[in-house]
Amino acid sequence: MALSLPFLNIASRKKRTQMISVDLGSRTTKAVLLERRGEVLALTRYALLDAPIFEKKISPELLGDHLRSVAEALGNTTKYITMSVGLDDAMVRQVELPQIPLDEMRQILKVNHKGYLQQDLPNHVFDCYIIPPRLQSVADKTSESARAGGSAPKLKVLAAAAKQQLVNDFMAATNAAGLIAECMVPGLVGPINTFEQALPEILARETIALVDIGFKHTSVTILDRGELALTRVVNIGGDKLTAGLAESMNISYAEAEGIKVGMAPEVESALQMQVIPLGREIRASLDFFEHQFDRPVSQVYVSGGSARSEMILQMLHSELMTECKTWNSTGFLQLALPGQQAVEVDHIGPQLTVAIGAALSAF
Ligand SMILES: Nc1ncnc2c1ncn2[C@@H]1O[C@H](COP(=O)(O)OP(=O)(O)OP(=O)(O)O)[C@@H](O)[C@H]1O
Ligand SMILES: [Mg+2]
Repeated sequence: MALSLPFLNIASRKKRTQMISVDLGSRTTKAVLLERRGEVLALTRYALLDAPIFEKKISPELLGDHLRSVAEALGNTTKYITMSVGLDDAMVRQVELPQIPLDEMRQILKVNHKGYLQQDLPNHVFDCYIIPPRLQSVADKTSESARAGGSAPKLKVLAAAAKQQLVNDFMAATNAAGLIAECMVPGLVGPINTFEQALPEILARETIALVDIGFKHTSVTILDRGELALTRVVNIGGDKLTAGLAESMNISYAEAEGIKVGMAPEVESALQMQVIPLGREIRASLDFFEHQFDRPVSQVYVSGGSARSEMILQMLHSELMTECKTWNSTGFLQLALPGQQAVEVDHIGPQLTVAIGAALSAF
């Protein structure tokens, strides 16, 4: 069951046969078109577009134009659209709440977000998702102590918050583009949803980290036998790798980007230097978890644009001392892609992970 924190309270949400899902990255917009075919989901089209240039904030008009281009690139076959909210724009935390209806949970968060989310969040919308308890549950410390106190065990809930203005702007932009907004999903949730479909046994049995390396940020999510144990956002991504490479080699940003993507062996040591700080940050997250839970993270599963580089994955591996690999985020989908897209999907797949995961919330 996909995590869903839809923010938009559309009471009459129906099951759609087709859905556009857009991941508005800080550098690249990733979009997928998924289609329900009986029991399976098919990937029928995808698109990578340059993110619209924006200073601090993108206007709803500009975003509307951009979404129109996205829908066109996907063949204009459906109006329903789901959007992943950037890591800067939506916060996600695991909290514990009493056993009450979802509506009341949202209300509690709205009134007491400072207590639950340790942050003052004026003019935000909140949404909750009750994390299903593990099947053969080994009762953990928190629920044990709750029972010892005689009260009903609390529920583990994923709480998400986003600015009301962001939601309004998204609605305005989708309307302007002639599209219909179905769902908004925090970016952090995307890789979890996709992984759950792609590698369910590993998710259920092992302690793993999902790392999505973007342009500006990298998200780290630790899942301990199916349970969310830690989430963190690091402000390092492909941009810093390229910028650092350009500086150290005294070349332009564009040249450095070409070299990085081309994986020229002679730049290996220069690139390794740039990957070290990112590796350290990820390692720090793993260490934090491992000390607190006294359990090692066995594998690191990497997605995002940089996961397309075997060289970067190997460098991370040696920095983290834990196996780092990319994974097949489209393997569980029926692939029904046109010519060239069918050829390239294996290579591009890691970068589509968030968009696919957001779509799973909506279906
Ligand atoms: N083959 C490749 N090798 C190395 N890096 C690559 C490759 N392909 C793409 N990238 C890098 O991936 C980055 C873009 O990744 P991605 O699309 O995941 O970021 P984003 O989602 O736009 O950013 P963010 O998540 O931070 O908002 C760019 O920095 C680009 O250099
Ligand atoms: Mg991204």
